Parts: sequence; C-alpha cells; structure tokens
Amino acid sequence: MTCVCNAVAGDPHSHFRHRAPGPGSCNITAGSAPPKRSDFLPFSPPTIGEEEIQEVVDTLRSQWISTGPKTKRFENEFAAFLRAPGALALNSCTAALHTALKTLGIGPGDEVITTPMTFTASVNVIEHVGARPVLVDVEPDTLNIDPHQVAAAITPRTRAILLGFPNNPTGAVLEKEDVAGIARLAAEHDLLVYADEIYDRLVYGTEHHSIVSQPEMKERTIYLAGFSKSYAMTGWRVGYACAPAEIVEQMMKIHQYTVMCVPTAAQYAALEALQSGEPEVLRMVGEYDARRQYMWRRFNEMGLHCFEPRGAFYCFPNITSTAMPDDDVFCEQLLKHERVVVVPGNAFGERGRGHVRACYAASLEQIAEACDRIERFVEHAAS
Ligand SMILES: Cc1ncc(COP(=O)(O)O)c(C=O)c1O
Repeated sequence: MTCVCNAVAGDPHSHFRHRAPGPGSCNITAGSAPPKRSDFLPFSPPTIGEEEIQEVVDTLRSQWISTGPKTKRFENEFAAFLRAPGALALNSCTAALHTALKTLGIGPGDEVITTPMTFTASVNVIEHVGARPVLVDVEPDTLNIDPHQVAAAITPRTRAILLGFPNNPTGAVLEKEDVAGIARLAAEHDLLVYADEIYDRLVYGTEHHSIVSQPEMKERTIYLAGFSKSYAMTGWRVGYACAPAEIVEQMMKIHQYTVMCVPTAAQYAALEALQSGEPEVLRMVGEYDARRQYMWRRFNEMGLHCFEPRGAFYCFPNITSTAMPDDDVFCEQLLKHERVVVVPGNAFGERGRGHVRACYAASLEQIAEACDRIERFVEHAAS
C-alpha cells in the first residue's frame, strides 16, 4: 500500500503546469515560461568568459563533475560580493526556503506567520515540513504586511515570520516603518525571519528596504534569493541563502544530501551575472517599469481595478466587477475565447480570489496584444 504524507498529498499542484497556451496565444503568466524566450525577456544571458567555458569543458571531458572546491570558491566569492556573513548556493530560492525551514527544525506544532497573498510555493513549503502557516491580513491601501496584525497573531507556537516582498502576486513593496516594526517584533519574541527578497532589484520609483538592514536582524534572518528574477536566469536554477555562518554550515548538509550542489556551469554563470550583469539589470528595470505602467493603466482603463505594483513584475487586477467574477472561470474562459493565459488569483491564497495575475516580463507588443484581447473579452462578457 502506498502511504503518501498528508501534507503533500492534500496539496494541489501548482496552476502553472495546467495551462498550455498553444499557438497564437498570449502567455502573460510568468517571467519564467516563455514559449520563445526572445519574445519575453530580450536581455542577454550573462556572458561567460572563454576561460570559464574552457574550465567547464575540461571538467566535463575529465568525466569528473566537480562538486567540492568549485562550489566553495563560488560561495566564498559570492558571500564576499554580497557582504554576507555566510552564503550557500542552492538550486533555487524555493529550495533555499525548504532547506532553511528543515535546518532550523521548523515542523509539526510550529507556526509561521506570513501574508495571505504570496508566491504559491511559500505556504506549501511551510506545510510540507509539517508546520502551520498563519496568514495575517495586509494593510488595505499598501498591501503591506501590518506589524499590528503580526503582533496579534503571535502565539507561544510561533517560530518565524516569512516575508515575501517585493510581493508576488501584488507587486507591493514594504514601507520602511513596517520593516522596522517587524524587526522589533522578531527581536522581542525571539523569532526567526525568512526573508524571500528575490525581487529586491525590481522596484520602480521606490526603494526596497531589506529586513537585514535593521539593527541585529542579520543574526536572526535567513535571507533567500536567486537569479531567476533580477538576472532573468530562471532556467539556470540558481538560488542562494545568506544567514549566520553556523546556520549556513548546517543547511549545507541538507543540500548536500539531496542534490549535492548547483551544477558547476550554472555557478559560473551566476557569478558572472553578479560581477558584470549590473548594466543589464538596470536596463531591465527601466524596461519593466515602462511595461508596468502600460499594463497597470490598461487594466484600470478597462474597468479592472488594479493596485499599482511598485515591485516584482506582476499586475494583480480585481475581476469581480466583470460578468465573470470567479477567477478560475475567468481564466478558463479567457483562454478559450481569446487565447490569453493569466493565473487565477486564488493560486496565491484564498485572499487572492477575484483577481488574476498578469506578468509584464513579456514584450510590450505581447502585453498590448494581451490587453486588447482581455478588454474585448470583458466587454463581450458584459453584453
Ligand atoms: C517570491 C518568490 N520566490 C521565489 C520564486 C522562485 O524562485 P526560484 O526560481 O529561484 O525557485 C518566485 C517565483 O515566482 C517568487 O515569486
């Protein structure tokens, strides 16, 4: 008899695998699923020098894929670059969260406070380790985490706060005073903070305030990020965690005994991106900002109220004013009638119901075409 762990068996699959766009469609679901990469992210991948390429080729020819010294070199250079006390390279930001929860023994009986609209995997991962996600509501105007709500949710079982800002799917960016408020609470109640700041570079007309910039927060924060967003390197599968050295050291064991290490070629690519990708990142942020403004304006003009995203690369319009207020139905019908793929808001938690998520990492032409089709769909549905 097969016995699958309840925390895993009861969990639905991610929405992203279910929607195959097909020819002639506009896929504005994610920055990571382009049918033709050049349509979506017209930014060159990091340039890897001849020397590095040769080293990878030599390693492959030697039939001995290096896992030890190269990984260490990468992590050391990486930690120095990030000015972090310790850094661990993992195969994704999501893997980093899972590894960090396991390492710090977060499990059955523990509670982790987070927001009700988050990157799909964050809540699932908390559940997979057997802990209970406690969702506190966000401030209505800013969609920020509200320190008062967090304070009210703290119980003797609370072990950690998980912050996912700049936020996927809303695009909300934390205000400085809210970051300070959360830091104070964490210190007062001796809580860990898991800070998924993978979109930290993608902010528009505002600043990202990292929780680690708060006094004494480096000691209790596990900072999680990766190369999928700011460097548009989703397919390379490189993420990282920065934390006190003794935590990183223990996380390494779980990582070693599951996947061993990030592939050598991907390590080189990531390091190169860090060292010389800055002009590309800046160019990308400028491009995304123009696309963000365009998409946000179009949604509001077609009557779908949309919070102004200030970070990440998503718009999260409310579709409850349409003739199809159920987000699952809206997405299915939009795909069927107009061949536009967006993600139903409930994929990001119940609080996201009545919204859809659209990604503006697509080209401006694709975004314009998708918006025209959505507008036509909304008008037809109403008539
Ligand atoms: C907040 C957040 N963290 C992590 C990820 C995934 O990152 P990775 O590709 O490194 O797993 C996403 C992707 O959508 C995200 O929105």
